[in-house]
Formats: sequence, C-alpha cells, structure tokens
Amino acid sequence: MRRRAARPVNTDTSPEPWRLSVAPMMDWTDRHCRVLHRLVTRRTRLYTEMVTTGALLHGDVPRHLDYSAVEHPLALQLGGSEPADLAACARLAERWGYDEINLNCGCPSERVQRGAFGACLMAEPELVADGVAAMREVTPLPVTVKHRIGIDRVESYDFVRDFVGTVHTRGGCTVFIVHARNAWLQGLSPKENREIPPLRHELVHRLKRDFPALTIAVNGGLAGDEAIAAQLQHVDGVMVGRHAYHEPWSMASWDTRFLGASEPAATQREAVEEAFVAYMEGLAAQGTPWSHASRHLLGLYNGQPGARRWRQVWSDHRLKAERPQAVMRLARQALHQGAKAAVPLA
Ligand SMILES: Cc1cc2nc3c(=O)[nH]c(=O)nc-3n(C[C@H](O)[C@H](O)[C@H](O)COP(=O)(O)O)c2cc1C
Repeated sequence: MRRRAARPVNTDTSPEPWRLSVAPMMDWTDRHCRVLHRLVTRRTRLYTEMVTTGALLHGDVPRHLDYSAVEHPLALQLGGSEPADLAACARLAERWGYDEINLNCGCPSERVQRGAFGACLMAEPELVADGVAAMREVTPLPVTVKHRIGIDRVESYDFVRDFVGTVHTRGGCTVFIVHARNAWLQGLSPKENREIPPLRHELVHRLKRDFPALTIAVNGGLAGDEAIAAQLQHVDGVMVGRHAYHEPWSMASWDTRFLGASEPAATQREAVEEAFVAYMEGLAAQGTPWSHASRHLLGLYNGQPGARRWRQVWSDHRLKAERPQAVMRLARQALHQGAKAAVPLA
C-alpha cells in the first residue's frame, strides 16, 4: 500500500472550529475543489465527500484519503453503521492527519439505504451512539454527526431532540450539524430531498436552546453573509453547501467578517484564478488531467460582466490539451471582451 510521504501538521487551533464550514458534497468537494476553496478562505472548515467504511476497508485508501496540506482544517465524512468498521476508519482518519471525523446520518439515497446508513440511521439512535462511542474510543479526534431534522413524514421536534439526546449521552458526541429538513426515504431522489422537504431552521435553534452545552451548527438553504449572520444569532455554526460551491467568491468575506482574521485570504478573483492555475499546472505535470480541477472554478466570476464567456472558455473541451496558463489567457480575453460588450455604448 502506498503511504503518505509526510504526515501533515494539524493546524486546527480555532476556538470555534464549527462556526463556518463548507458541506460535504459527493462528486463536488473533492480534493481539488477544497484547494480552490482554501484559496478563498483560510479558516472555514472543509469536509470531504462521504467515504464509505467499505470503500476504505476494502478499497484504495490513498485514493480516498490523500489531500493537500493546505486543506486544513479538514474533516473526513464517513458513511457506515457498523461500530467496529467505523472505529477502524477513525484510526485511518487519524493516521492521515484529518482534524475531525463526521458521521453521515443525512444522506437519503437508495444505495446508502441499502447499506443501512445515512439518513435511515436516524431511526436507530442507539446504533449511531455506539458507532460514535467506538470511534471516540480509538481516537482523540472530534467525532461529529451530520443529520436531518427527521425522516419521512415525522414532523415532531421530539424525534430529533431524542436523537441528539441519545447520541450525546450514550455516544459522547458533542457536535451536531443539522440539515434543517426531513429526509423522505421513499419517492424522492437525493436532489429532490435537498429541495422539497421544507426547511425548518427554527427546529435547529430549538436544539441549541435545549442543549446549550452542545455545539449545534445549522445547514440548508443558506446563502450570503446576512443569512449567515442571522443564523449565528441562534446557533454555534453555519454549514453552507451549494451556494459555496456555485459562488466560491462568496466565501472571500468570511475570514474577516466571521472568523477573526485580520486579512482576507484573497482580495481579487484574479489572484485566486492564478493560484489555482499554478495548482493545475502542478497536476498536469504529474499526469493528472487539469480538467478534473477546473470544473470547480467555473463559478468564480459569477455576477461579473463577461463571466459567461470566461466560463465557456474554461469548459471548452477542445482546449483540454492546452496548458492551464494558456487557457487562462484566453479566458481573460473572453472576460474582458464580454465585459466590454456588456457596457452599453454612450
Ligand atoms: C451534489 C451534492 C452532493 C452531496 N453529498 C453529500 C454527502 O456526501 N454527504 C452529506 O452529508 N451531504 C451531502 N450533500 C448534502 C449537503 O451536505 C447539504 O446538507 C445540502 O446540500 C444542504 O445544504 P445547502 O442548502 O447549503 O446546499 C450533498 C449535496 C449536494 C448538492
């Protein structure tokens, strides 16, 4: 088995590690995406895509766990339900230098339900608690849980309150990240399950009131600094998913506004693009197609004049054989031409 050359340094010294985070998103928040996000915000907590215990215990560990040191603070999200398997994966997470292990109790996909984990675990709080306890026994890393406010048509607050209560008292979990809508386990695709069950942020606020000693972060449908600031009046943290992915520049204000930094990680989109191009040049030099990474960049100029043309260049398949530097030059030309075309002539 290949091993990491050097274990990355755990740089997580934040007093409030869960204040802001980017959600785990399958196929989206891969290691390249996380490097991009790190160029925009140094302090926001980042999560991997969900990795199943089966994939780690029987698959290619470096492929699933390797990452760049700049990605810290970084949490590994696990999908699984068998305490012994979770414990074995928690050991791996620690060995690979992750800052946190997060257990997925919110994914509604049928594949995940067949494996009996994800959102259907909310019906088995004792099993979740045992899984958390098993992980905590083998590692000092924080073990956190990401879950929904309910499953199927159970609308009662008591359900999620009892879930959190059990996972805390029996499992020792002290950090809960709550996607503020139910998961409907039948009849909806995972995508629909992120859109159709209604959002009820107030239930997450109530959890914080009922469990003031726990760290409670809210997730679901939050976009923009004002929405984040409003949530932070009620809970300890906010996790942002789709908006952060589609509009990565929206995170540029977070370090200074919310996370106590004296300076932002970047003040110009151009600087982020250039740094990411340097990263992609490095990938290409190692034989990894840079287009694996460039797809995450496409929202960088959203809202700016010329953004559509810039995006078209970066997603043009005919340019995949070019160097990223050359594609950036073309994309910049397109951006400026698009911006000029957008200015009405006097
Ligand atoms: C493409 C995609 C993949 C996702 N994959 C995961 C996942 O692997 N694990 C998880 O806990 N949630 C996953 N989610 C759910 C997000 O983490 C988040 O809970 C959800 O998108 C709601 O937050 P948002 O409204 O800010 O996007 C995924 C969401 C999307 C859009």
